[in-house]
Amino acid sequence: MAVSIDGVLAENGKSGNRWTSREDQAFFQKALSKHDGFATGYNTFKIAEKKVKKRRNVLVFTSKKRNKGVPESVTFADPKRFSPRKFFTGRGCKNVAVLGGPGVYAYFLEHGLLDELFITVEPYVFTKGVPMFFGSKFKAHSFVLKSARRLNKNGTLLLKYKHAS
Ligand SMILES: NC(=O)c1ccc[n+]([C@@H]2O[C@H](COP(=O)([O-])OP(=O)(O)OC[C@H]3O[C@@H](n4cnc5c(N)ncnc54)[C@H](OP(=O)(O)O)[C@@H]3O)[C@@H](O)[C@H]2O)c1
Repeated sequence: MAVSIDGVLAENGKSGNRWTSREDQAFFQKALSKHDGFATGYNTFKIAEKKVKKRRNVLVFTSKKRNKGVPESVTFADPKRFSPRKFFTGRGCKNVAVLGGPGVYAYFLEHGLLDELFITVEPYVFTKGVPMFFGSKFKAHSFVLKSARRLNKNGTLLLKYKHAS
């Protein structure tokens, strides 16, 4: 995920990530190519629909019935009635990329399904917007920093964390 210094992902559910650096975008595309499953919320899916549809094993979180006109590689489902873990293991996925937004990140974290976090911190402060995680309760989830790399001269940082468990 790409965030501002104050932990904001985007202006709103429809705004997208046009403010992220070229270096982050290059890292993101390269990282995606190493994954065989993808989980996203409905709004994030809609913003990147053209690109995401080309990938296999895409799970889109939604509370509504929306399966009309989507390719076979894309499944819409409500995690209240559906197991993302079974979905991906049933398809033999070894490396699932959780693409957000905040409710999807929180779901995977709260269900013990987030092993690693790749966070690009861009040197901006937005003061308002979509937060990184939007969970159901306050809880300290521990992570260990594995690496920190500066991606450009503006000071964009790539932080890689592993879940502490
Ligand atoms: N900077 C980054 O790295 C990054 C990463 C991801 C997203 N974003 C940005 O964040 C914005 C989207 O944020 P968003 O808050 O709208 O998040 P989102 O997760 O993309 O979309 C929210 C929608 O997804 C569905 N959803 C999410 N969690 C669910 C759950 N647990 N159960 C059932 N349905 C669930 C719901 O759809 P229904 O209304 O259909 O039920 C919900 O209204 C966009 O601007 C996107 O570009 C940025």
